[in-house]
Amino acid sequence: MPPDSGTLLAVRNVSIRFGGLTALADISFAVRRGSITAVIGPNGAGKTTLFNCITGFYRPSSGTIRLLHGGEERALERLPIHRIARLGVSRTYQNTRLFADMTALENLMVAQHVFVERGLVAGLAGTPRYRGAEAEAERRAWSWLTFMGLDAAANRRAGTLAYGEQRRLEIARAMAARPVLICLDEPAAGLNPQEAAALNGLIRRLRGEFGVSVLLIEHHMGVVMSISDHVVVLDHGQVISQGTPAEMQRDPAVVKAYLGEEDAGPPARGGSAGVAQGGAAGGMPGPERGG
Ligand SMILES: Nc1ncnc2c1ncn2[C@@H]1O[C@H](COP(=O)(O)OP(=O)(O)OP(=O)(O)O)[C@@H](O)[C@H]1O
Ligand SMILES: [Mg+2]
Repeated sequence: MPPDSGTLLAVRNVSIRFGGLTALADISFAVRRGSITAVIGPNGAGKTTLFNCITGFYRPSSGTIRLLHGGEERALERLPIHRIARLGVSRTYQNTRLFADMTALENLMVAQHVFVERGLVAGLAGTPRYRGAEAEAERRAWSWLTFMGLDAAANRRAGTLAYGEQRRLEIARAMAARPVLICLDEPAAGLNPQEAAALNGLIRRLRGEFGVSVLLIEHHMGVVMSISDHVVVLDHGQVISQGTPAEMQRDPAVVKAYLGEEDAGPPARGGSAGVAQGGAAGGMPGPERGG
């Protein structure tokens, strides 16, 4: 079926294999323009691998990933990372990847260099036009620092910031690149409940005030239920269900995937481990739990 005009990203039949392991098998879903779409699933389900395919870090073995924007359909599955970024798809990482020795402000400046240089020949450095672009990048960096509550941290080295501040700085960095789609890989992982709640408010505002569409990997079920319009549930590299949060909450296959994770004991890997457990135990309220 051709995507309708409300579709921003269309993922169709995407598979990726690593040697004998099929990490994603025939994944299809769409992100609607202006929506918050959540990708959920147990540890190892393939969520980050899916983000890596969308943002060009991995090339799918088969399938298509199309960005429908500005009246054009772009085949992301064939483009390198920087081209995808320029088309307006930005991301954060499950494990923060900031330039630890640069200040928060510098991190946001670097993120925009791809734009500052675009259309400006290198020889223009130092000219009024170049300086104008630099000034604009700095203005934008400050506005994102302010938006994310990081003004006071502007001139501190990113590596010295508190964990929650680093996570917000990553989002600021992704937003400074002026995306139409921002992919957030477990932005709330490791945050305390107050920080996580504040972050949800910010994510909602990104969509509401800047019109950016959000693709969100999230383990806190409360968050998924409260902020997403559409939920895609992965398990063992497959989409086991998708629909509205309310539909997912009632879907026995979804509940089972989460309870299965709980039975399996603590996830082997770090990063999201603590929250994953919280998500499994504290999330997915529904008929099975409430009676
Ligand atoms: N480059 C790679 N080479 C080999 N296997 C990989 C590679 N990248 C991912 N995988 C495998 O793909 C599967 C899915 O991993 P992925 O990191 O996408 O899961 P996830 O859903 O993000 O899990 P988590 O909730 O723990 O972050 C895992 O079995 C992982 O080991
Ligand atoms: Mg992951």
